[in-house]
Amino acid sequence: MKTRVIPQQVIARKRDGHPLSEHELEGFLKDYLDGHVGDDQMAAFLMAVYFRGMRDRELDVLVDVMLHSGEVLERGGAGAPRVDKHSTGGVGDKVSLVLAPLAAELGLVVPMMSGRGLGHTGGTLDKLESIPGFRTRISLDRFDRILRDVGCAMIGQTEEIAPLDRRLYALRDVTGTVPSLPLITASIMSKKLAENLDGLVLDVKVGEGAFLSRMEDARALARAMVGVGAARGLAVTAVLTAMDRPLGRMVGNALEVREAVDCLAGGGPGDLREVVTELAAEMSLAGGVVPGLAEGRQRAAEVLAGGGALTRFERLVAAQGGSLQLSDKGYGLPAAPVTRVVAANRAGVIARIDPHALGYGVIPMGGGRTRQDQDVDPRVGFEVRVRVGDGVLRGDPLAVVHGATEDDLFIGARVIHEAVTVADGPEGSPLPQVLERITA
Ligand code: URA
Repeated sequence: MKTRVIPQQVIARKRDGHPLSEHELEGFLKDYLDGHVGDDQMAAFLMAVYFRGMRDRELDVLVDVMLHSGEVLERGGAGAPRVDKHSTGGVGDKVSLVLAPLAAELGLVVPMMSGRGLGHTGGTLDKLESIPGFRTRISLDRFDRILRDVGCAMIGQTEEIAPLDRRLYALRDVTGTVPSLPLITASIMSKKLAENLDGLVLDVKVGEGAFLSRMEDARALARAMVGVGAARGLAVTAVLTAMDRPLGRMVGNALEVREAVDCLAGGGPGDLREVVTELAAEMSLAGGVVPGLAEGRQRAAEVLAGGGALTRFERLVAAQGGSLQLSDKGYGLPAAPVTRVVAANRAGVIARIDPHALGYGVIPMGGGRTRQDQDVDPRVGFEVRVRVGDGVLRGDPLAVVHGATEDDLFIGARVIHEAVTVADGPEGSPLPQVLERITA
């Protein structure tokens, strides 16, 4: 008979900074999967990991147990290189919505498995589900068929794929245990290893809106994920990108889909286009469909400008049961019943737009979760009208709040005044959009 670990002992040993043996950690994780360790005990363990971190061997065990808690995807019939990207999480980060169809148009197969909102960041699944009819829960057979027909598909983690990550992800979201290097590394890499890829590009966010905000922590996270991939035969490139302000102008699920569609149509904000183009170039290089990054960037820009990626997105949406009305201004997405323009209460320069405050600000309006089982309201959010460094006069619009109720508009206006700093002059300079590239 298997001897079970004593959960409170494992938690206490991690709390006190002792290394866990393979038997202890594997036993604790598997007992959680089997229901012998409760969510309360796992939450305490995650908090202990948050404070104590994990040794390399412990991280390896966590990745392997997460990966093997489910299946690894079959490669199916799609013959082109399978390449995906994953972000460590940011505010206004709608990159996946543009990148998956763009990369497919560039000749790659993109089996994208995404998550829901996590902490103060939004999730690709919640964004996709704001498209009327769009289904992120489909069978793996259907997923494979869509990959073959369309070249990309976007789903949530099924019961079959890394279920341990799925459960821990939901628990971390509501227990303040997201910003942990080993937990983020294992969460992302277990899902991506399960996708059976030829290449992976990681968008590692840096700055206040990222989970690990400092440059050195983001670098360490990137190196850890690249290392986990390399040890398991997966070529991983990490690109560090700015998250010291929100990406693009829209924050909130349906609003972000709208901005992503603008970008797919060859428009949208320049910072979003820059990140998308860089990551598409990296994916193209990883898949061997271009000889170098410069060619990759050029091809990506051409495809975006030509509208091919938008057509591919429409096919993806239709294949997953959704519908968009591209001839409509709002693309047929759900719209908030009330909006309010929030104006600057003094003249000056936009010194700072705090992504953290905006990300958390969406939650009380119903756009994010405070408990695991909540639905989100896709309509609410912020449309930020200024960029860092802009000059404004008193009364100039800073942002538009999109709310479900008048109360939301009050909450949202307070968030905007907290998040957007108007000062006499700039306070430091914003980070370059694309900062660094890390490979094995
Ligand atoms: N994205 C994930 O999938 N997991 C994390 O822990 C953070 C970002």
